[in-house]
Amino acid sequence: MADYTLHDDAGKEIARLPLLHGTLGSAAADVRRLLDDSGITTYDPGFSSTASCSSAITFIDGDQGVLLYRGYPIDDLVEKSDFVEVAYLLLFGELPSDAELRNFSRDVTLHTMVHEQLSTFYRGFRRDAHPMAVLLGVVGALSAFYPDSIDVFDPLQRLISIERLIAKMPTITAMAYKYTIGQPFVYPRNDLDYCSNFLHMMFSVPAEPYTVNPLLAKAMNALLIVMADHEQNASTSTVRTVGSSRANPFACIAAGISSLWGPIHGGANEAVVAMLVGIGTKANLADAIRRAKDKDDPFRLMGFGHRVYKSYDPRAKVMRRIYEELLAELDLADDPLFELAKELERRALEDDYFVSRKLYPNVDFYSGLVMKALGIPLNMFTAIFALSRTVGWLSHWKEMIEDQDQRIARPRQIYVGATQRPYVGIAQRRLDGAAPKMPTGRPMPSEPSIVGG
Ligand code: SDX
Repeated sequence: MADYTLHDDAGKEIARLPLLHGTLGSAAADVRRLLDDSGITTYDPGFSSTASCSSAITFIDGDQGVLLYRGYPIDDLVEKSDFVEVAYLLLFGELPSDAELRNFSRDVTLHTMVHEQLSTFYRGFRRDAHPMAVLLGVVGALSAFYPDSIDVFDPLQRLISIERLIAKMPTITAMAYKYTIGQPFVYPRNDLDYCSNFLHMMFSVPAEPYTVNPLLAKAMNALLIVMADHEQNASTSTVRTVGSSRANPFACIAAGISSLWGPIHGGANEAVVAMLVGIGTKANLADAIRRAKDKDDPFRLMGFGHRVYKSYDPRAKVMRRIYEELLAELDLADDPLFELAKELERRALEDDYFVSRKLYPNVDFYSGLVMKALGIPLNMFTAIFALSRTVGWLSHWKEMIEDQDQRIARPRQIYVGATQRPYVGIAQRRLDGAAPKMPTGRPMPSEPSIVGG
């Protein structure tokens, strides 16, 4: 395809936009010189049509429902790989040799413990604090424990920070869970694989021996693999933006956790199960679908729709299969929530509102049910997503730092505010009877409510 040229209404050429082509997907008009050459900027508030970077890590074909990690289809990786090997692939671009995998896995294992002082951070939280608030605080605090590895332009310091974060996220996440239920923290064990170690730290207690069910470890591997990366989603582009100011990797990952927490991003898996519990029975499905289509009703089908997938999210297919296997292997009675989810999906995919808008189940629609079957409590779902997505965030952070084109992220804007005007003394203000700008009604109490914690 030839370059694009921009003309004004009189047909005069005002800018030339070279076309950039990747190996897969859409071409991109290079607008880096547009403002200098034409005095105009582009406007794309949700970045629906804007490439913020070039990346070789993950590719999504939204129309075909394809997801590739470094060129490998997600289904192949779930079936043949494990989370630590996928982490290596996303970070370094190729599947590791046997020796490379053993070394990387050993390095990660040897960093699973956290500084003993870190456990005191948990005691500052109320017991009913949301685990994502705890994760956010503790991960951000890690930058205070590792001043030796925050020079982002030293490859070895980048590597040690990456390995520390991948290794410690399961420990920190399990500690957040133990703290909320009042049980003692469980130390990691170096004789267990990554997922078994996490389940051990989540569910074992000092009072009795605990053996990890290999079926649960296998399902946890699949869950962490499908959630590991997903191109420039909201939290990953947040990590890139924060990292572009050369902030340390711990601060970048804390920023990613903040963004992922949002209920229409990583918080959706928790919202899906809450939605299904709220719907209750199939008798209420018609009303739920009616409400989801009603623009005046804030209710949305959580776990449905996606900015990129305009077909079935391949991860949702994997999660649904893993869930059905868990039900069979663990001899779990048919979970009424699963029956409800399948019926909701069936009805929505026959409804023109969803079909015409290409709204299909996304990763969150079934991943919550898998976590529920693994015994993960609802308020921990997004924390597990953050544990997995830390690998994707670090892969993109590393790629960005190593990118010669990398500059600090500083978008422009369309200014729609007041033009320049003189200062008005307080006696002259509000004489025009304009409505007050602050919301009316009682503000929140100045003192936070103190409950037992
Ligand atoms: C994740 O980006 C990623 O890759 C994210 C993620 C990852 O791995 O990082 O895949 C993880 O965040 C998955 C998404 C989880 N969120 C949810 O399941 C929340 C429910 N979904 C919606 O909030 C929404 O679909 C989004 C946020 C996912 C996508 O929003 P978009 O792309 O901005 O689309 P939109 O809101 O403009 O919707 C387009 C139309 C609108 O109707 P019209 O204005 O055209 O009439 O579809 C409607 C929306 O009202 N719509 C829905 C809907 N999702 C979109 N209507 C009812 N229920 C829904 N779920």
